[in-house]
Amino acid sequence: MSAAEPLASPRLVVVPAAGFGAAAADLVAQTLAARGDAVLGLPTGNTPIPLYQELLRRAAAGEANLSRARVAMLDEYLDAGTVSFRGWLEDHFLRAAGVGPERLLAMPSRPENIAAACVHYEEQLAAWGGCDLQLLGLGHNGHIGFNEPGSEADSRTRVVRLSEQTRRANEEYWPGREIPARGVTTGLALLLAARRILLLVRGEDKAAILERTLRGPISSAVPASFLRRAADVWVVADEAAAGRL
Ligand code: GLP
Repeated sequence: MSAAEPLASPRLVVVPAAGFGAAAADLVAQTLAARGDAVLGLPTGNTPIPLYQELLRRAAAGEANLSRARVAMLDEYLDAGTVSFRGWLEDHFLRAAGVGPERLLAMPSRPENIAAACVHYEEQLAAWGGCDLQLLGLGHNGHIGFNEPGSEADSRTRVVRLSEQTRRANEEYWPGREIPARGVTTGLALLLAARRILLLVRGEDKAAILERTLRGPISSAVPASFLRRAADVWVVADEAAAGRL
């Protein structure tokens, strides 16, 4: 694909860093206003933290209603010892938001029958009617979820080997703990099928990869570039991350 391929939809919202959580929360609120039991695909990582804090603040103030929202996990470690994205998401959002196991579609994390468990995850999401709003962070190498460079647009939910760069980046979340060699990720095909996608990008260290994502060739070398082919994509970036656009 050439860099000249037309952009399907990305709508870029650039905000000062202090307004990042509110700008992203406005889009989540829009989805929840249209459908109280909307299915939200939620990422872990540093990027969405201001969003989760703002959503929890709004819920506590009665400005947002999370009481029926359903959550689908984006990715997970495979066969991990003490590190877990599910645990991270529970600590940073789900518990305070009151989202219990009945409203959580967890990503499988055990190696036994993992291929069947990945198929089951996709079937469960389909039974929920698919994802209304898929939120995503952006890896420094252009990964979304754990779809590392080389992942194709038709990839399914599956086990992946994590790049050294991604494992090093993930060490930041779990100081001193071992990061597994493999992860499980929602496939790009399923991500791209979400009714709306919201890519969250914060910080100067993401400026170069955001530029490649939005302006470079659409290719598996930068999996996030495939987002430009999806129908309804929003990018919320702070000014530092948008610095090269
Ligand atoms: C991690 C996770 C992704 C996350 C991304 C960016 O490896 N697998 O789900 O979105 O990298 O993380 P951060 O927001 O901390 O930069």
